[in-house]
Amino acid sequence: MLKAADQAWLQDVIDKLTQKMDWVSEKNRDKIPYTTKDGTYDDRSVDNPSGDAADGICWWTNGFWGGMMWLMFHETGNEKYKEIAGISEEKLDQCFSDYYGLHHDVGFMWLPTSVANYRVTGNPESRKRALHAANLLAGRFNLAGGFIRAWNDLKEGDTRGWAIIDCMLNIPLLYWASEETGDPRFKQIAMKHADTSMTAFVRPDGSVNHIVEFDPFEGGVARTYGGQGYEEGSSWTRGQTWALYGFMMSYIRTGKEEYLHTAKRIAHYFIANIPDSGVIPVDFRQPAEPRREDDTAAAIAACGLIEIAKRAGELEKDLYLGAAVKLLRTLDGSRCDWTEATDAILRNGSGAYHSKTHHHAIIYGDYYFMEAIFKLKGNDLYIW
Ligand code: GLY
Repeated sequence: MLKAADQAWLQDVIDKLTQKMDWVSEKNRDKIPYTTKDGTYDDRSVDNPSGDAADGICWWTNGFWGGMMWLMFHETGNEKYKEIAGISEEKLDQCFSDYYGLHHDVGFMWLPTSVANYRVTGNPESRKRALHAANLLAGRFNLAGGFIRAWNDLKEGDTRGWAIIDCMLNIPLLYWASEETGDPRFKQIAMKHADTSMTAFVRPDGSVNHIVEFDPFEGGVARTYGGQGYEEGSSWTRGQTWALYGFMMSYIRTGKEEYLHTAKRIAHYFIANIPDSGVIPVDFRQPAEPRREDDTAAAIAACGLIEIAKRAGELEKDLYLGAAVKLLRTLDGSRCDWTEATDAILRNGSGAYHSKTHHHAIIYGDYYFMEAIFKLKGNDLYIW
């Protein structure tokens, strides 16, 4: 699928990834990292920066470290990665008894851990955990609006009617649960949420809203929010990529052509907005200054674009694959840290446009970078 020069570059990146993950995995084997402090990974299985139930062991990114370990196990066959993945999967059991920290992001937590484990090893405990998580996700479905509710706030901010575009990456847990049990309910909920998202989130130009608020009692869109982007109506780049890759996942799991067309429309908007530098801003509609970039969006976009390219005709394949390679080459060329100065790989992640700090390591940036690189090689463990 790749040109010869790109093949040589790809092998070089895989070599660097393999070398770095060898020591990073051992140094952090008992942790569940989110970001780095002075170059060393933190540990969200013990740290809780706000004291809120959702910020400690139930923190939404806590599946990605396990996912990285499964990707490395798949690539290298080294048993140590399997063992380390198992450590974080077991730690996540605490979330089921804590319960209050869990919300729509259970797909991000249990697809890269328990579903990956079950797919690779057939472990019955992993199957049980993943089905438990799928039932929690299905239980968040709002029948009147046809969406999966985001977050749990009621007192400080009422999110009963909120849905967010990120959830397109959680619903593959429901597709998996239907495939696994033969019960169509999970898939029906996932497809209803995806259908609602197509009409309520995706704008005519192919960009997407981050948050849509529905009337939780009657259904119908009440308003939209800028969420983690610059402002209402702007274009938060990671949100664009959750949509791009998320609709592609729904297409892969259901074969519904409208999801493929939607993923392509979002991809066209995204590709048209990639700056010449290949560096992705936090929001495509943000002011030129201050400089705010998000490497995680580039990595997630690359994953979705490669999946589209795999299913594209000869004439259009280069559009998607070329954009993915440009994003990944930019990350490797100027954003990755392959040294021992830091445990993380990508340097410039950003949580949200209005966050206090920017340009720091974020675990899912590394996860999706790794997934994209193994996809290009044709050897990713597809766990969504
Ligand atoms: N799912 C939340 C985020 O992308 O930051």
